[in-house]
Amino acid sequence: MNTHTGLGRLLAATALIGALVGANAARAAELSVVSGAVGNDLAEMQQQLDRFAQQSGHTVKLVSMPASTTDQFGQYRLWLSAGNQDIDVYRTDVIWAPQLAAHFIDLKPHVAEEIDKHFPAIIESQTVDGKLVAMPMYTDAPALYYRKDLLEKYGKQPPKTWEEMAATAKEIQDKERAEGNQQLWGFVFQGNAYEGLTCNALEWVVSFGGGQIVEPDGTISISNPKAAKALDTAHSWINTISPPGVLAYQEEDARGVWQTGNAVFMRNWPYAYALGNSDDSAVKGKFDATTLPIGEGGERSAATLGGWNLAVSKYSRNQEAAIELVKFLASEEAQKFRALTNSRLPTLVALYDDPEIVEKQPIVPRWKEVFLNAVPRPSAPTKTKYNEVSSEFWTAVHNTLSGNGDGESNLKRLAARLKRLQGGEW
Ligand code: GLC
Repeated sequence: MNTHTGLGRLLAATALIGALVGANAARAAELSVVSGAVGNDLAEMQQQLDRFAQQSGHTVKLVSMPASTTDQFGQYRLWLSAGNQDIDVYRTDVIWAPQLAAHFIDLKPHVAEEIDKHFPAIIESQTVDGKLVAMPMYTDAPALYYRKDLLEKYGKQPPKTWEEMAATAKEIQDKERAEGNQQLWGFVFQGNAYEGLTCNALEWVVSFGGGQIVEPDGTISISNPKAAKALDTAHSWINTISPPGVLAYQEEDARGVWQTGNAVFMRNWPYAYALGNSDDSAVKGKFDATTLPIGEGGERSAATLGGWNLAVSKYSRNQEAAIELVKFLASEEAQKFRALTNSRLPTLVALYDDPEIVEKQPIVPRWKEVFLNAVPRPSAPTKTKYNEVSSEFWTAVHNTLSGNGDGESNLKRLAARLKRLQGGEW
């Protein structure tokens, strides 16, 4: 080609641009990430994806899923079992690793530099037979939120036991209603029949000294008087301090009641702290958070360990770019942003001393000890059967809360069902 003529130069330039665009097109991937959403999760994720797109040249489609982790799990298991190639990255619950491990790639060889900066127990929870199934994006441990203004008005302290919680809730509810505050309830939590109820009920049972449903060594321990007492106690709250509708509440339903100023106490995850202090919240500046109460005869307050992670599908055709995305969303910069905007607890040790986080979201440093002592659900010992174990458990709990059998009889039946499910071994 004669590049000295005008036309020749134009053709050469066009060929060069074509080659560059071609090279970029080969490198720039179109990724899809699926994520459930509670509170501001999706807006926060979208902001981070926009930044990732700018930095990397990849485009990312955010596929939004239902809020309930149980609904998400059902859908993801179907997609993964069918070898779905349309989704590259999954946002995964802390309890899913053993059940979905076979469908995700091992991230360990790709995160050698950053892995030691995370809390080892969280990395451990996402490791199955030596394979790192997912990278943590945030961890979760719940709080008992309480209305400072109402407790002060009635000369009460934040409760240390469930008994105190119920008594304070009832007294304030009755007195406030007598003053015309008709909508007020004492305590809201997650009572719907789904994974969130497993989290709430595990806290009651552990705090009454009733064990962890299935112990780390695989023993089914749930049928015992302390666990039964815990469930009967929770049953006594329904329609006294908790609205009957709580039997259908998930996280966002409880937060809705709380944030319009209609509850004295709420059990919820740390995300409710940032949202409760937002400008459109009726409880802005009027509340604080403490650890969940201790049960009668129990020795400790118990918080269930939650948290979300990111996994790359084995069936993705863009694995390299997907790994880049996971590393970006799990990075210090992304976790700091998540802590500042949504009071999500980082999984990176160093961020608990970050002055900006300490100042803007004080619950984050205060909750480090709570999540480090949080109780895991029995997903490790029950392996691929965890989802069924949990569903049997929340069903027994939901029945008890609804007055459909008492704690003792429902837990007896549950233990027998778990035995059958266990078969020879988990
Ligand atoms: C939160 C926790 C998650 C848990 C879920 C239950 O999202 O982080 O681990 O399974 O709540 O609703």
